[in-house]
Amino acid sequence: MRIKHFVLLLAALACSSVAMAQADIEQRVEELLQKMTLEEKIGQMNQVSGGLQFSKEIAAGQIGSVLNIVDPVEVNAIQRIAVEQSRLGIPLLVSRDVIHGFRTIFPIPLGMAATFDTAVVERGARVAAVESTAAGVRWTFSPMLDIARDSRWGRVAEGSGEDPYLDSQMGVAMVKGYQGEKFDDPTCLAACVKHFVGYGAAEGGRDYNTAMISERSLRNTYFPAFKACIDAGALTLMTSFNDVDGVPSTGNKWLLKDVLRQEWGFDGMVVTDWNSSGEMVMHGFAEDLKDATAISINAGVDMDMMSFGFIAHTKTLVEEGKLSMATIDNAVRNILRLKFRLGLFENPYVDESLARKVAYAPEHLAAAKQCAVESAILLQNKGDVLPLKQNSTILVTGPMADAPYDQLGTWTFDGEEQYTVTPLKALGAHFNVINVPTLTYSRDKETKSFKAAQKAAKKADAIVVFVGEEAILSGEAHSLSQLNLQGAQSELIAAMKATGKPVVVVVMAGRALTIERDLAQCDAMLYSFHPGTMGGEALADLLAGVAVPSGKAPMTFLRDSGQAPFYYNHPMTGRPNLGNETLLNDIPLKAGQTSLGCTSFYLDSGYGPLFPFGYGLSYTTFEYKNISIDKQAYDKSDSIHISFDLTNTGKYEATEVVQIYVRDLVGSVVRPVKELKGFMRVSLKPGETKHCEHEIAVSDLAYWNYDMEYVVEAGRFELWVAGDSASGEALGFEVK
Ligand code: GLC
Repeated sequence: MRIKHFVLLLAALACSSVAMAQADIEQRVEELLQKMTLEEKIGQMNQVSGGLQFSKEIAAGQIGSVLNIVDPVEVNAIQRIAVEQSRLGIPLLVSRDVIHGFRTIFPIPLGMAATFDTAVVERGARVAAVESTAAGVRWTFSPMLDIARDSRWGRVAEGSGEDPYLDSQMGVAMVKGYQGEKFDDPTCLAACVKHFVGYGAAEGGRDYNTAMISERSLRNTYFPAFKACIDAGALTLMTSFNDVDGVPSTGNKWLLKDVLRQEWGFDGMVVTDWNSSGEMVMHGFAEDLKDATAISINAGVDMDMMSFGFIAHTKTLVEEGKLSMATIDNAVRNILRLKFRLGLFENPYVDESLARKVAYAPEHLAAAKQCAVESAILLQNKGDVLPLKQNSTILVTGPMADAPYDQLGTWTFDGEEQYTVTPLKALGAHFNVINVPTLTYSRDKETKSFKAAQKAAKKADAIVVFVGEEAILSGEAHSLSQLNLQGAQSELIAAMKATGKPVVVVVMAGRALTIERDLAQCDAMLYSFHPGTMGGEALADLLAGVAVPSGKAPMTFLRDSGQAPFYYNHPMTGRPNLGNETLLNDIPLKAGQTSLGCTSFYLDSGYGPLFPFGYGLSYTTFEYKNISIDKQAYDKSDSIHISFDLTNTGKYEATEVVQIYVRDLVGSVVRPVKELKGFMRVSLKPGETKHCEHEIAVSDLAYWNYDMEYVVEAGRFELWVAGDSASGEALGFEVK
């Protein structure tokens, strides 16, 4: 008993010390706020991109934060101006988009999501925090939590795909990794959950476009990851460029005050996206920059990124009574609280020698490689062509075989291509490599070199074609209307197929491309979302069987971009696709109006996707047996105890990402056909069977219903335990 009491005492002491620290910070915030002039308060609300060129403004206390300064010498120089020259010596918040690594670049976030491994993702965020804080950066604009159901949108690259549960798990892992255990630790990198909200639902996948989302969809689909990350301690939030149902997020009081502050109790800091305040004029939501400034601050924005509206107009708006001092004080409190939490007043400077010491540390590169290994998805492996026989002779070609810059993917401002290990650099460790460069970049249409590659293929046991996207083709403002491989990449694959040799295609892209015709032209396909610095070594190990693919699709792979948006957890229709519809080429002349099937499908491409959410093969096979749940009927306070036996029925040691889906069969509003409610990575030796258990609280089945209450509705449910969202047998149960 004594030990239990001792542990309880420790826990109580820990909580009380946190509470005391919090109280101390609040007191320090108030004391400092009392000393500040209106101009100095407004200065804290102003963020600019740049450093020494703003020395005068920093010394005058007109800037609270800077972004895009990553030279520790310059960081210290501007910090010294703020701390030693401004009247109150308030340190600057130095920020940067550290989205998937700083110097050591990890797979893009969509690739990290494909790992379904929160530990690996948290580790990656920690590495990014250690490397970036060493350069003086203490605030990153990550994780991006935008649910994305449409690969035409270039920014699918930066998020965790289409599922709210996976998005929440990955977002929380990144927040924990970035921020670490103690906010005032010099390696704590303040996270910024973005873009609040609904940015990924831009119509047509056209970036920055309007998003028509109901409140119920916001609450059931787009909010969960933000709420989970805020509950996990995310220190800041960024508003989004888009409007939701006509109201730009940066001026949306319901979002930024009613939901974020009142409902969720967020006490962190809210920053706009780049000039998203000023852009409300372009939206036609504000008369001019001054009006936009009043709207943003009254809606609940604390800091202005690069509209310069706050610094220019806030004082006048206060004098005109359009902004209250209470509102300004609240915004400045949130900013000062963050600076105190990060320990910037005690520790404003950085050791200028540290950044280069920690960059690319062996353990950082190893973590990036592991993440890249786990992020690759095996989409096809006809005749078990993969893994290729070690020391066999392979012909290597394609624009992504040796693309050190593009392999890093979008948002890699500080990744340095000279450190990238490309597949061409890494494959020699396992194979005799014949390299015949053909296309030199993903949009290249020059096919004259194909013949030389076909000739060289005669000496090879197999051909590996590295295709995909240049980094610039995904990311912000890079939407695509067609998702096929660019340039003559598909022609290159077909030309290699024509040699009669086994053809393996490796894709490195920033989105789920439409690759159905390329699959028909190859034996195997390994798909990686821009795998980062160590991607080449990771892919080489996978091709050689030193590692075995375990990645799963974080978003649906389409047959055709015309199917977008397509996502697995869609609401059930009254006329679901039955798979027996008459398609275009089979339609008889003068066919009767209703003769083709009155269900949901495309005449030209049918219904289903190419690969469903959660899909991914292995070099081995797995068998799920004895799947069971502990009851037939549950109370709302119960937990569902799931058990099953998983067997590795093949010949490679491998890891399966087991996924658990639930369906609410009847609701007060239509419900998704399936929702991911859990996943686990299970590693098995050949022939090994593991008895596995997993628990889901019935309360996790809650949703926002017809009356906009967050409840679990009694009724019939189904549950699946499977290797992807389209497999497995349903197990029925009831909630009383
Ligand atoms: C960009 C992006 C945002 C990023 C910010 C700062 O426009 O929308 O995600 O963090 O500006 O670079």
